[in-house]
Amino acid sequence: MAALSFLGFLVLLLPLTLLLLLYLIVRPKPVRIPIKDRHVFITGGSSGIGLALAHQAAKEGARVSILARSGEKLEEAKQSIQLATGIEVATYSADVRDFDAVKTALDEAGPVDVLVVNQGVFVPGELEVQSLDEVRLMIDVNIIGSFHMIKAALPLIKKRQNGGPASIALMSSQAGQVGIYGYTGYSASKFGLRGLAEALQQEVIADDIHVSLIFPPDTETPGLEEENKRRPRLTSIIAASSGAMKADEVAKKALDGIKSGSFIVPCNSEGFLLSIATAGLSPQRSVLMAFVEVVAAGLIRFVALCFQWNWYGSIEKWHAQGKRSGN
Ligand SMILES: NC(=O)c1ccc[n+]([C@@H]2O[C@H](COP(=O)([O-])OP(=O)(O)OC[C@H]3O[C@@H](n4cnc5c(N)ncnc54)[C@H](OP(=O)(O)O)[C@@H]3O)[C@@H](O)[C@H]2O)c1
Repeated sequence: MAALSFLGFLVLLLPLTLLLLLYLIVRPKPVRIPIKDRHVFITGGSSGIGLALAHQAAKEGARVSILARSGEKLEEAKQSIQLATGIEVATYSADVRDFDAVKTALDEAGPVDVLVVNQGVFVPGELEVQSLDEVRLMIDVNIIGSFHMIKAALPLIKKRQNGGPASIALMSSQAGQVGIYGYTGYSASKFGLRGLAEALQQEVIADDIHVSLIFPPDTETPGLEEENKRRPRLTSIIAASSGAMKADEVAKKALDGIKSGSFIVPCNSEGFLLSIATAGLSPQRSVLMAFVEVVAAGLIRFVALCFQWNWYGSIEKWHAQGKRSGN
């Protein structure tokens, strides 16, 4: 009996000790990033996820600026936000591949509290058939464009008016957590954002700037509609294991993640599992999430292997069918 109660005591003591230890070591420390009355600058804010984010940030009382290339789409976005919220957003027409153009836009916009680097292009296709120009386009817009935005915005974020905690959020993708068939170029561009974000967080923490990396699954947007026209069939089969979300739902998860200063921001339950499976050496502010990551690591690795088993099964079946039909 005494041995049993000692065992029960140990079972309780171990997780409590782990929680206490994690409480002492998790870094960076928890933070809240206010949005109300602050300047939120969103790239790719004229369409899809970026537009939904602009709507929500405006609704929450932020001063919102959006940047994209097409002046026409920017104007439409501005009208739709004004109609829905009564708030007028500022628009900037620039290509993120052009550093001088984004610097001019940001200098005109003034000090920034929250920068959301959301612009992105996704052109699927197996590397063997995809042109290098398409690969370069994804690297230029998704990676180099993000460097341009951050480099131009950093001095303005440091100059923010009320001095509260600031945020730099980067829109990655679940294809930036796991390589998916048909996404060699896209996955490379989105995985790159992770390295950028992890290193940047260490560089800007002393300025009270907090980096968030958002990982949406397939999201119903004009961009996805275009992508679907070219998506290899196998990509759809594999990506189907994480269902499509609405742009508003992703924007809500993204904004909540930014406000809570989360480094990794998953958007659905599969994304939550992915974030644990790929936690690696990434920063973690939440003691509870750190606890889940430590305790679930082995089990989640097993689930990840099951996913790989399923995906490679689909690939093998696909090729076997192709051989049978003589393709
Ligand atoms: N939709 C999905 O399934 C999904 C899933 C995971 C991650 N994501 C990521 O989420 C982000 C937004 O995707 P979305 O589906 O909302 O895309 P979207 O509907 O195609 O919107 C893309 C936005 O980016 C702007 N943009 C594109 N190229 C640009 C450039 N060179 N310079 C400046 N702005 C540019 C577009 O405006 P202009 O064309 O006028 O420039 C538009 O405002 C992307 O980073 C994407 O990779 C999307």
